[in-house]
Amino acid sequence: MLMAHLKQATRERHAEVEALMPVLDPALTQAAYIRLLRQLLGVVAPLEAQLLELPIPAAFGLEHRLRAPLLVRDLIALSAPTPVWPTRGMPAAPRLSGLGQGLGTLYVLEGSTLGGQVIGRHLRVALDITAEWGGAYFHAHGEGTGAMWRAFGEALNLWEGDAEEVVAGANLTFGAFADALRGVPA
Ligand code: HEM
Repeated sequence: MLMAHLKQATRERHAEVEALMPVLDPALTQAAYIRLLRQLLGVVAPLEAQLLELPIPAAFGLEHRLRAPLLVRDLIALSAPTPVWPTRGMPAAPRLSGLGQGLGTLYVLEGSTLGGQVIGRHLRVALDITAEWGGAYFHAHGEGTGAMWRAFGEALNLWEGDAEEVVAGANLTFGAFADALRGVPA
């Protein structure tokens, strides 16, 4: 099954990006959190913009999964400047070559909502961040997260295109997150 293959093929990439996210650090400051949101916006916005140009089947529910607007909402809530993308010093997002790679990207963006549930609870304790105030991106689908993930997995397992293109898109996307998290947005 494609979902199981993806998980196994990207396990090391997940560990890499997880290690680059300061977000479970007990000493996380609001300034560090804002910096993280800006880095995430720099990678999520250009990738989602490309997904909107691809013929993603309706079964994937793309329009319900877009989260760049949540990052913008969080930055505004925290009175932080919202970077106009592209921003100097931000690495360029990869160019997705087609639908297969796009689905790999969506797998990574959507999978990140799972860790977001753990992160969301930590943000409340550490910084008083809530879904309504600064934490909409990590809150993501909230209580609907499990159902959204299962629906995504069912759609992907039924998709009949080239599985290796999906793995390539997922790896490109994890790489883009790693680059963004190492980068220093202006
Ligand atoms: C501190 C940061 C992170 C933590 C603590 C975290 C944690 C988790 C957890 C707990 C799961 C669920 C594992 C399971 O149920 O089997 C998960 C899955 C996943 N995460 Fe993360 N994550 C983090 C960052 C990220 C980021 C930044 C991305 C994307 C760039 C990402 C992408 C994924 C994906 C794609 C899955 C689904 C794996 C599968 O196929 O089951 N995660 N993560």
